Amino acid sequence: MEKKSVRQATARGRRALVRVDFNVPLTDSGEVADDRRIVEALPTIHHLQTAGARTILLSHLGRPGGRRDPRYSLRPVARKLSALLGQPVPLAEDCVGMNALQATARLQNGGILMLENLRFHAGEEGNDPAFVQELAQLGELFVEEAFGAVHRAHASTVGLPQRMPSFCGLLVEKEVRELSHLREEPEHPYVALLGGAKVADKLPILNGLVGRADALLLGGALAFPFLAAQGKPLGASPTESGLESEVQALMARAGQNGTVLELPVDWLGERPGQKEVVACSADDVPSDVLLRDIGPRTRDRFYARLDGSASVFFNGPMGKAEDFRFTPGTREVLAGLATLAGYHVCAGGDSARIARDLGVEAAFQYVSTGGGAALEFVAGLDLPGLEALPDA
Ligand code: ADP
Ligand code: 3PG
Ligand code: MG
Repeated sequence: MEKKSVRQATARGRRALVRVDFNVPLTDSGEVADDRRIVEALPTIHHLQTAGARTILLSHLGRPGGRRDPRYSLRPVARKLSALLGQPVPLAEDCVGMNALQATARLQNGGILMLENLRFHAGEEGNDPAFVQELAQLGELFVEEAFGAVHRAHASTVGLPQRMPSFCGLLVEKEVRELSHLREEPEHPYVALLGGAKVADKLPILNGLVGRADALLLGGALAFPFLAAQGKPLGASPTESGLESEVQALMARAGQNGTVLELPVDWLGERPGQKEVVACSADDVPSDVLLRDIGPRTRDRFYARLDGSASVFFNGPMGKAEDFRFTPGTREVLAGLATLAGYHVCAGGDSARIARDLGVEAAFQYVSTGGGAALEFVAGLDLPGLEALPDA
């Protein structure tokens, strides 16, 4: 998957539209809570600046639903970027229209400008040709640097590269290179350690990993429908409904492909409103208990699978790891992983933050800036934002 690189672009004096994924978490007071995605885009920004380009940064933040909403303004991001670059980066109030045109026209060679949230316009997610045209007017070339968004077929990720000379940014190149180790020819045994909560979103990914990975270790709320399919009790835990047939089909495919599915054999949980932690076997869950974390026997079994593996893909905590009572599952398994050799990758917005907060980031050789995009890439799916870029 060799794409034309931003390094090959003739950029001096030209306006470069650079799609970045500055969709970062904000604190309650509206400051950037995790700047990883901004920091990781700096090499491309520096490259373009040195090359004498006029850099115009495009991004989305959150899901404002096609309407201007100040809660989703990129202003805190522009402030953070200014601090990281040590120079003020102006933010145009709109990503299209007179305001954006005038702001881009004022740019000097080596200058940098940010445009306000793309998703303030419905044309972004709808990949509306008129909106693409308005964006395209603002520049002479396009650089795809938003790895976290290349699984979306939006105006800025597909419309623009279909319309103008386009190049792959340095972060996207790095992500593709690193994650290709798992997508193309992973070293075996290859184990996927998966958890988290968004089960319906993740089932297609699990499906893609069946036959690619040798074992899937499922923790967190992600394990619930699999245990339910085996007739195991889940106490009072809320579960997503309507997934039964998909889960059955996945378990059957895993069996046919020789992919091991390892599920929790014990849990830590809580009764609503009570502080006390309840430990139980996966065969015997009190009906009023919410299951919140994998138990110690499950941790040992997961560790035993990871021991001896050559490649590991981690996405999704083993439980409700934001609650100090339910950190052990994720922390202990990842602390164990940190002692093992092999190529270990972490992906997912919450996963990367949780690994850092638990002090176990050292378990990973690579931490992706992608959430859904990294998952789909590793699962072998085609990503529209990459497909749209010209080959080298
Ligand atoms: P990522 O963003 O890394 O892909 P997810 O968004 O799928 O991860 O999952 C992260 C969330 O899953 C965390 O907020 C965590 O609290 C929640 N979670 C995982 N297991 C449970 C559980 N058993 N009960 C409640 N929340 C859970
Ligand atoms: C992400 O955070 O995964 C990307 O920025 C994509 O955001 P989205 O899921 O709202 O499209
Ligand atoms: Mg998440």
